Amino acid sequence: MIFTVAIDGPAAAGKGTISRAVAARFGFAHLDTGLLYRAVGALGGDPVLAARGLTLADLERGDLRSMAAGQAASKVAVLPQVRQALVAFQRRFAQRDGGAVLDGRDIGTVICPQAQVKLFITASAEVRAHRRWLELGGDKAQVLAEVRERDARDMGRAASPLRAAADAVVIDTSDLEAEDAVAHACAVVEAGYWSER
Ligand code: C5P
Repeated sequence: MIFTVAIDGPAAAGKGTISRAVAARFGFAHLDTGLLYRAVGALGGDPVLAARGLTLADLERGDLRSMAAGQAASKVAVLPQVRQALVAFQRRFAQRDGGAVLDGRDIGTVICPQAQVKLFITASAEVRAHRRWLELGGDKAQVLAEVRERDARDMGRAASPLRAAADAVVIDTSDLEAEDAVAHACAVVEAGYWSER
């Protein structure tokens, strides 16, 4: 069975939590596509060559979750050749038997426009910065500035900018507990699953 759930949205909106929960609940495989861009940014050197040669071991580096790695990722993610080099891997993952959840910025719009379910997870910049700050610490104003900077780069780039697909279900998690956001997302996936049967 091929069943793809595309989950997009800005940094710290709750995509990761929701994606992992949906994958666990329905027994689907999960790919955090941000890790691909983070690994390319962390590898350094020519980002296009890094993207073309990326291996699964590169995704297991311990330093990929930091704010700095997120900024580096969003800088290499503006390059069309980097994005192009990562398309085939993501599409293969989406087509795997048994169902797949992919989360990122352009999954519902570019990577898997035929996904059976599309979710766009968002929240205010202030709420997202607060979550990042709780997770990683540091100077709160600086965290908010970095969230805004990354949003602007991700939404403003010419190649696959961050935006909701026209047919995505939008979930704003600003005022939701994580479990309520997960329940909402699972209900949308379940409805999509049964409409496919
Ligand atoms: O989701 P995460 O914060 O790990 O993503 C890091 C960066 O990678 C994003 O800010 C974005 O620039 C880039 N990215 C992307 N397309 C994706 C996933 C991530 O451009 N599908």
